[in-house]
Amino acid sequence: MALLMFRLRSLLLFIFLVSLDMNISSAKISYNVLTYGARPDGKTDSTQAFQDAWAAACGSTDSTMIYIPKGRYLLGAVAFTGGKCKSPGITIRIDGTLVAPEDYRILGRAQNWLSFERVSGVSIVGGALDAKGSPLWDCKANGSNCPAGATTLSFVNSNNIRIDGLLSLNSQMFHVVIYGCQNVQVQGVRVIAAGDSPNTDGIHVQLSTDVVITNSSIETGDDCISIGPGTKNLWIERVSCGPGHGISIGSLAKTTEEPGVQNVTVKSTIFSGTTNGFRIKSWARQSTGFVRAIRFIGATMINVRNPIIIDQNYCPHNLNCPNQVSGVQISDVIYQGIRGTSATPVAIKFDCSLKYPCTGIRLQDVNLTYSNKQARSTCTNAIGKTSGQVQPDICL
Ligand SMILES: *[C@@H]1O[C@H](CO)[C@@H](O)[C@H](O)[C@H]1NC(C)=O
Ligand SMILES: *[C@@H]1O[C@H](CO)[C@@H](O)[C@H](O)[C@H]1NC(C)=O
Ligand SMILES: *[C@@H]1O[C@H](CO)[C@@H](O)[C@H](O)[C@H]1NC(C)=O
Ligand SMILES: *[C@@H]1O[C@H](CO)[C@@H](O)[C@H](O)[C@H]1NC(C)=O
Repeated sequence: MALLMFRLRSLLLFIFLVSLDMNISSAKISYNVLTYGARPDGKTDSTQAFQDAWAAACGSTDSTMIYIPKGRYLLGAVAFTGGKCKSPGITIRIDGTLVAPEDYRILGRAQNWLSFERVSGVSIVGGALDAKGSPLWDCKANGSNCPAGATTLSFVNSNNIRIDGLLSLNSQMFHVVIYGCQNVQVQGVRVIAAGDSPNTDGIHVQLSTDVVITNSSIETGDDCISIGPGTKNLWIERVSCGPGHGISIGSLAKTTEEPGVQNVTVKSTIFSGTTNGFRIKSWARQSTGFVRAIRFIGATMINVRNPIIIDQNYCPHNLNCPNQVSGVQISDVIYQGIRGTSATPVAIKFDCSLKYPCTGIRLQDVNLTYSNKQARSTCTNAIGKTSGQVQPDICL
């Protein structure tokens, strides 16, 4: 018996050692933020500890991991910069929640809360980011002298980025921004903010190439996903939106010189109670910008105010739109397999530029109703065709 126990123990020890060895060889060098002085109490400012852990990981010549164990970590505005990093890949594994300061003014004038600039090969896995934005929204609602607010998480001028399984709560401004980046994968992200929170876009992509956003759910007060100038090869699949303003390409033509948006695919989306479904929006003024090769494929709309909309006459307060004509040429836009309910009688609205009409608009198998009645469509300066069943009757 004793011998058997001994054998069993050695066997277990053997298995343990083998698995330990496998961990060491396959896993990377790990930097735990606790060893750099972070405190999981939600009260002690851990900003410096996170910066020190980043500096250590970034200085390593191997792939590394920054580990954030369970607990709440108070963080002020932090910029994690690359440029001089030696590490070919840094995984930030978050089992805890990062919390912003209680006083919204501390982040309010910073552009970003957590920003990554000029980094390559960074992955964020898991974690929750609680930006505590609601007092700032209240301040804005009351029209007093409020700061603009910070984006919760931004990646700027960076490559080979992965965000996997993150939860972003109550951002002051945008939740996630991808700007000037190449090869970004966003997967299994959840965004939650009040339906009336101002400028709290879920994910904003701009000046970026090869971005994939999948399996994500976004409840917020502004755009679910907003797509800015200079976006190329964007793939969005299995995203649910609502409340919020829906998926929007634009606003474009903010500036006269502007790169275009091209090759965007949005597949299998669910919109519930959003202001818009698929929107393309530009200012009614001159611009070098354009929109081409866009595919909206497979969507369920539940009580959406403007399920399909192109609005090229955006000009709030009629200011700074001298001749009220958009320079943005929109072409080759496909809407396919879109069904559900519109919350207004006009389910499809194409309001395009007089100078550059929308061309190559294609609708296939679209069925949108309005309170079990026929919905309508309206078209201005739009050219295209339909195939399959399309309801409502289209004015192209
Ligand atoms: C500001 O407006 C919010 C509603 O958005 C309200 O709940 C709050 O009491 C107001 N705060 C002040 C200081 O007026
Ligand atoms: C998204 O979810 C689907 C279905 O659950 C799964 O098959 C797919 O692998 C997921 N995508 C990614 C990128 O993990
Ligand atoms: C469009 O983007 C997808 C990725 O989203 C890519 O696979 C495809 O090659 C691109 N098409 C062109 C014509 O660049
Ligand atoms: C469109 O959807 C409505 C409501 O779901 C349904 O009653 C109708 O049969 C559908 N029409 C077509 C052509 O599929």
